[in-house]
Amino acid sequence: MDLDRWLNAGLQAVAGWQDGFGAFDRHASLDIPDDRFAAVFAEFTGRLRDNYPFFHPSYIGQMLKPPHPAAVAGYLTAMLINPNNHALDGGPATAQMEKEVVAQLAAMFGFDDPLGHLTTSGTIANLEALYVARELHPGRGIAYSAEAHYTHGRMCGVLGVSGTPVGVDSAGRIDLGELDAVLAGGRIGTVVATAGTTGLGAIDPVHEVLAVARRHGARVHVDAAYGGFFTLLAGPDGQAGLDPAPWRAIGSCDSVVIDPHKHGLQPYGCGAVLFADPDVGRFYVHDSAYTYFTSDELHLGEISLECSRAGAAAAALWLTLALLPPTPEGLGQVVAAGRRAALAWAGLLRDSDLLELYQPPELDIVCYFPLTGGPRLSAIDAASARLLADGMTDPRPVFLSTLRVTGAAMAARHPAVAADTDQGRILRSVLMKPESEDHVAELHARVEELAAVR
Ligand SMILES: Cc1ncc(COP(=O)(O)O)c(C=O)c1O
Repeated sequence: MDLDRWLNAGLQAVAGWQDGFGAFDRHASLDIPDDRFAAVFAEFTGRLRDNYPFFHPSYIGQMLKPPHPAAVAGYLTAMLINPNNHALDGGPATAQMEKEVVAQLAAMFGFDDPLGHLTTSGTIANLEALYVARELHPGRGIAYSAEAHYTHGRMCGVLGVSGTPVGVDSAGRIDLGELDAVLAGGRIGTVVATAGTTGLGAIDPVHEVLAVARRHGARVHVDAAYGGFFTLLAGPDGQAGLDPAPWRAIGSCDSVVIDPHKHGLQPYGCGAVLFADPDVGRFYVHDSAYTYFTSDELHLGEISLECSRAGAAAAALWLTLALLPPTPEGLGQVVAAGRRAALAWAGLLRDSDLLELYQPPELDIVCYFPLTGGPRLSAIDAASARLLADGMTDPRPVFLSTLRVTGAAMAARHPAVAADTDQGRILRSVLMKPESEDHVAELHARVEELAAVR
């Protein structure tokens, strides 16, 4: 895809539409001469160089990559109009696109007739799910695993709901026995299962969480902000195939969150929440004297906590999914490559004398640690920190991230490592660019070289 060409085509298309409304002079207060713009723009683009190369295969640090060029073309073109998806009065075309992409995401999870919408982030999408949880079960709390995203605890605080972290097993998945015991207390109304934890990429057994929760009359919300698109790999045989049970169970849960701005190739500003029961829309009812006047159809602001939201985000997702649909053959191929990369790296790590695999990857996150300082958590922590820093400043850089683990979590996986501190850092790499697959051997060799330097 030639982005130059399509950005220009977007400019032309919007200009052509605008021309139909009659010419007028722009106000002088908005005038900026090109030479002045050039100077400030040069400073601006210069400042943007203070970034890590998220686009490059050598960047395997955070859960971060640039959007697909189709999303860029879609976002920028719609942004020239700047629709607001809060109301059909603010963005009729992009609100319709939002309804269509939400239906595609719902179909991907097997939700029949859900209520859903895009949000500005996974955090806000989860906040909405927890808000509905509170409204449905006033006075009852919310349980989530100790490895769930930190914002669940924070949002429970915001909502004034008690949040209960539940322990995890030795693979970082919610402990079902402990969950059962917590639910037996009768104080929990909703359980959050995470389909792809942020740290380890672990998949809570959603099907088993659902069974335990239902036994105790609790609802289940699935946080698939990071892992959601991997549902496209559920079932197929082959190296990238995933056990379908947790993924197929999502369709029987009460709500799910997915972030198209993670594996959906979108720019930031694109999360989504879906509720199985469209009746929960009643918790969003509000009166607005100054909007909702052009149509009696559903305005998205009537079913979301946020007011203004970028119509451009819906436009970008619509255009992207029209080209790379959320099917095993479409977006599934993108996430499959990242998972194959993670599995391939795990194989290399198993054979390494310098690095040790922390636990087998489930999705596209690989965690590992250097052994060169000796089998002690304090030495692993120091070596991991050094490797992270050395990797970024090396003439042939590699950009990693670290993950803090407890001595107990390390001991559960690697009894030979002395837990001489309460917690320590290991290395974590997110292989979310499909190109990672072609660079695994090289990345592994680079990290081994860095580890070998004491
Ligand atoms: C599982 C999970 N939930 C929620 C979030 C928060 O999403 P956001 O950063 O879009 O607010 C993340 C972010 O990484 C995540 O991995």
